[in-house]
Amino acid sequence: MKVLMVCLGNICRSPMAEGILRNKVQGLGLEVVTDSAGTSEYHVGEPPDRRAIATMAGHGIDISDLRARRFTSADFQRFDQLFAMDADNLRDMLRMAPDPAAARKARSILDLVPEHPMRSVPDPYHGGEEGFEEVYRMLDQACDAFIKQIRGSN
Ligand code: 4NP
Repeated sequence: MKVLMVCLGNICRSPMAEGILRNKVQGLGLEVVTDSAGTSEYHVGEPPDRRAIATMAGHGIDISDLRARRFTSADFQRFDQLFAMDADNLRDMLRMAPDPAAARKARSILDLVPEHPMRSVPDPYHGGEEGFEEVYRMLDQACDAFIKQIRGSN
């Protein structure tokens, strides 16, 4: 199973999602490959935002090794499941889908937690530290739901 997390800059939400999922699957010994990408090229080659690194470190997870890259249409071939952080990211990804089967691999990450009151993971880039903590909580819940889902289908 190969999973791609996607946001706009690939320096806040999607590297946090990648780090959370990577940490969980490592701990459980699951064969899941994780990666992340951004729909923009603004921060290509950069490490995650220092606030994202700090928030994750506070939860015992190191994401300082990650580097931003841009999402490409080839990602639809490379990955089994592609999770967008918000509706704009999903729309931008779907515009690049080579065919309907590829498009069906992509969905919003909060679709994993339909009971959650929000449908998009808010962009924390222009806000304060507390926004990153909220993003962490949402993504932690979504990744737990994802793992439950794949374990149930084994
Ligand atoms: P991300 O956050 O999409 O969660 O990585 C953002 C990072 C940078 C920008 C926007 C969102 N930016 O406009 O530079």
